[in-house]
Amino acid sequence: MSEAHAYDRLPGTESTGVGQTGPTGRPLPDFPVPGPLATHGPARIIAMCNQKGGVGKTTTTINLGAALAEYGRKVLMVDFDPQGALSVGMGVRTHDLEVTVYNLLVEHGHDVRDVIQTTRTPGIDVLPTNIDLSAAEVQLVGEVAREQILARVLRPVLDDYDVVLIDCQPSLGLLTVNALTAAHGVIIPLETEFFAMRGVALLIETIEKITDRLNPRLHVDGILATMYDGRTLHSREVVRSVVDHFQDTVFHTVISRTVKFPDATLAAEPITSYASTHSGAEAYRQLARELISRGGAP
Ligand SMILES: Nc1ncnc2c1ncn2[C@@H]1O[C@H](COP(=O)(O)OP(=O)(O)OP(=O)(O)O)[C@@H](O)[C@H]1O
Ligand SMILES: [Mg+2]
Repeated sequence: MSEAHAYDRLPGTESTGVGQTGPTGRPLPDFPVPGPLATHGPARIIAMCNQKGGVGKTTTTINLGAALAEYGRKVLMVDFDPQGALSVGMGVRTHDLEVTVYNLLVEHGHDVRDVIQTTRTPGIDVLPTNIDLSAAEVQLVGEVAREQILARVLRPVLDDYDVVLIDCQPSLGLLTVNALTAAHGVIIPLETEFFAMRGVALLIETIEKITDRLNPRLHVDGILATMYDGRTLHSREVVRSVVDHFQDTVFHTVISRTVKFPDATLAAEPITSYASTHSGAEAYRQLARELISRGGAP
């Protein structure tokens, strides 16, 4: 493929063939299209986590989830950020909601199934939130087993899904600790820019503490480079240094920077349906295949 052609298609793994050197500097393996599942559940729970804001947590939750659903996986997306960007991005009207994940956390007697909303995207449900959730952090501090409340909330529906994706807020507070305590795995999106690694040591330390004290099964499923621009030396250098530090934990798939992502959010749709053939949609499909081939999803 000529350089010019590669740039036409946006730089990223989506323009790199199997066996060629990918944007992470390693040969790109083949991630086969997964077969359909004969039965569904119990779900593997994955937290999307980075205390740095604006790195692509919500975008990755929505689009990885949508790609997994295209492969026939039943997906529940949990909006665990009081800003509610995931709920809005999936077309859930948050101001009409009487009960949200907040009520499930702080009150007794609610059924999680009454709060889960279906979406326009087949195979995807959302456990929505709104700004009420911002009060939960303070309210839960005095609770017994306050770190395990989300795990308890999700338990009744785990058999209904193959994957549960939790979109965390940009903090390492009690809500994020709840997400990491409920999860089997964590995906860490990193924006491909100079200060990307700032704070990652603290995040890894937090994950290790939670693995030690609360959730021994927790596993780092992968670090995902987002907003990559392969035309700049800078982007390539940042990705290489992330790979130097974290090696095979880093996904081969990288997500390029493109305005199609904010556009899809405005349209309240995943990119896989908003711009189905766009390289950004292909990148999240590849991420879904890579995750499945690593054992991070059924
Ligand atoms: N690959 C991308 N290319 C271009 N823009 C992107 C990309 N990924 C995300 N964005 C945009 O960047 C902004 C931040 O992304 P997103 O909301 O997914 O990050 P976040 O980590 O969830 O942020 P927060 O910490 O505030 O919850 C959004 O406007 C989103 O549309
Ligand atoms: Mg977000």
